[in-house]
Amino acid sequence: MKNIVIAGGTKGIGAEITSRILKNGDRCFVYAREQHDLPDHENLVFNSIDFALSGDGLPGLPEQVDALVYCPGSINLAPFHRIKLNAFEDEFRINVLGAVKCIQACLPALKKAESPSVVLFSTVAVQTGMPFHSSISSAKGAIEGLTRSLAAEYASSGIRFNAIAPSLTDTPLASKLLSSPEKREASAKRHPLGRFANPGDIAAAALFLISQESSFVSGQIWGIDGGIGNLRMV
Ligand SMILES: NC(=O)c1ccc[n+]([C@@H]2O[C@H](COP(=O)([O-])OP(=O)(O)OC[C@H]3O[C@@H](n4cnc5c(N)ncnc54)[C@H](OP(=O)(O)O)[C@@H]3O)[C@@H](O)[C@H]2O)c1
Repeated sequence: MKNIVIAGGTKGIGAEITSRILKNGDRCFVYAREQHDLPDHENLVFNSIDFALSGDGLPGLPEQVDALVYCPGSINLAPFHRIKLNAFEDEFRINVLGAVKCIQACLPALKKAESPSVVLFSTVAVQTGMPFHSSISSAKGAIEGLTRSLAAEYASSGIRFNAIAPSLTDTPLASKLLSSPEKREASAKRHPLGRFANPGDIAAAALFLISQESSFVSGQIWGIDGGIGNLRMV
């Protein structure tokens, strides 16, 4: 049985990842501020933590961690000239520094695993310029750099690092962007595949990246985006 740490495993994409891991029979160590609708399960341990606050360490970590998935993030879209400097700092704190803190806390336990894997989250808006995304794409751009850098640094230790870059996904985080039938239809139409993502689309990619099936994959940024990042429909 594997030990998987899921930071932000209580809602949206993270909750779907937690649920799939439990179905596979592995053990989940979930961290978020609140427990939300997390099920009672013998293989699930929840600890409350706020990754936006300073402080090191994760309470209740097992001795060996086979995989870490860091999900906490944000979507704050606004015209660049209206975004205060501290809003950029806030995005950086939860998306990047929270991930750094989590990875550093898990490293000793990851090193004890046979084939450890770390999965981080970027956004399609890093590789494809999109208006009003300056603060989130700056922070997620840092995640992409962190992913590749750590993949290189820890390759000889056998720890794999990859990031998923989703497009719009139907989660609590994206609820404002999908709050009416009109917005849902317009968002679906923007994607070459004719729909936005559901949490299962993204969780499936994360499950692959923490599995042995991806044991030759590291340093990749994987767009799970209905084609919006790379395809132009002429
Ligand atoms: N949804 C999208 O359209 C979309 C698109 C591109 C990229 N992404 C990225 O994909 C990742 C997952 O997104 P999602 O839509 O699943 O997000 P979500 O629905 O907001 O879920 C985020 C999870 O992280 C936890 N979390 C948030 N802030 C936290 C904090 N300060 N400390 C500890 N835990 C915290 C939440 O629980 P608590 O609130 O209880 O702490 C929750 O479990 C994010 O990195 C996001 O930027 C999402």
